[in-house]
Amino acid sequence: MDLFEEGKVKFFAEDKQLKKAEVFFNPKRKFDRDLNVLLVSSLMNKNLSGLELFSGSGVRGLRLCIETGKFSSFVFNDIKSSEIVEKNIEINKRKLSKVDKKVTNFDAVSFESGKKYDYIDIDPFGSPVFYLNSAFKLLKKGGVLAVSATDTAALMGSAQKACIRKYGSVSLKTAYSNELGIRILIKKVIEEAEIHSIKLLPLLFNFEGNFLRVYFKSIAYNTKEKIGYAYQCSKCPSRQIKKEIKCSYCGSRFYRIGKLWLGPIYSKKYIVKMLSVLNGKDLSFPADSVLKVSNYLTKLSNELDVFSYYTTSQISSFLKQPELSISRFKDKTILSPKGFRIAVSFSDFLNNNLK
Ligand SMILES: C[S@@+](CC[C@H](N)C(=O)[O-])C[C@H]1O[C@@H](n2cnc3c(N)ncnc32)[C@H](O)[C@@H]1O
Ligand SMILES: [Zn+2]
Repeated sequence: MDLFEEGKVKFFAEDKQLKKAEVFFNPKRKFDRDLNVLLVSSLMNKNLSGLELFSGSGVRGLRLCIETGKFSSFVFNDIKSSEIVEKNIEINKRKLSKVDKKVTNFDAVSFESGKKYDYIDIDPFGSPVFYLNSAFKLLKKGGVLAVSATDTAALMGSAQKACIRKYGSVSLKTAYSNELGIRILIKKVIEEAEIHSIKLLPLLFNFEGNFLRVYFKSIAYNTKEKIGYAYQCSKCPSRQIKKEIKCSYCGSRFYRIGKLWLGPIYSKKYIVKMLSVLNGKDLSFPADSVLKVSNYLTKLSNELDVFSYYTTSQISSFLKQPELSISRFKDKTILSPKGFRIAVSFSDFLNNNLK
């Protein structure tokens, strides 16, 4: 066991990043936890109750309690590492004096509690789908839910059967599969929430290779109508969300993808709030973290709100041309260094841009 420091928290953990590690801690997720701290600081009120269903070392929950100052109570749950979480609470106890802390070691599938929570965090190994039911029974109206997934093979089209089984959707290997993964995950969470009469708005996502995380806010209005299918041409890069028999560019048939979430995958309004808190005085992130988070949120808030992106390599190989430079395109996406979005159809894009 080693002693680590991240943000304003010191904690014991094992830097193994393996399922076998006694206490899971992945230092590569620091950026993700920075985003998490900023989101809670910016978008949530004070006196919150929090529940982390998969605490690992407790680093995330401890950072949320200490760095946001928003929680008056917090439950750290982990089936395996509750002893070390107790210890990590103890070594940070001066900074946690205002938080009513509880450590539990339940299986998250059947986590039950007499109370409801303003913030619930699902950060498991693999798929989060098995734990959504527990979370929705316990999420307060107006609360925030964070959901991570590492089963990216299923979500991003490499393991199609697993995706159908777990998410009830058909994914596809495409140049923009990470976006499909995000949209399928959002769809599943929103559908499950509906069963509990909870309506959700996607606030923010983070994609890091084999890790996906989405934040939702429980809201009063319905968003379910933004769930549907997308259509990817089987022969060319063209894709659309309008149902048609054949591709208008090359006349080939479409693959149908979905169902998936077709609304915005983040909220511009809340990202603007996060940026203003990040640049204000309340949060004391070091300069390198501020820069990284600020870059991410600024780029995201400037993205075009359309379904999916194209990549320069995909277009060039389709046209059998040398690779185009991404600098030619204004509407880049943070989901791929070679990715850009267009507001017109693929045919119009080719006619207008590449002649
Ligand atoms: C990805 S780690 C959590 C990481 C932590 N949230 C962080 O940001 O560092 C997943 C954790 O879930 C725990 N776990 C696995 N299955 C569980 C279950 N069914 N119920 C509760 N905890 C579980 C593991 O012991 C492990 O610590
Ligand atoms: Zn086509």
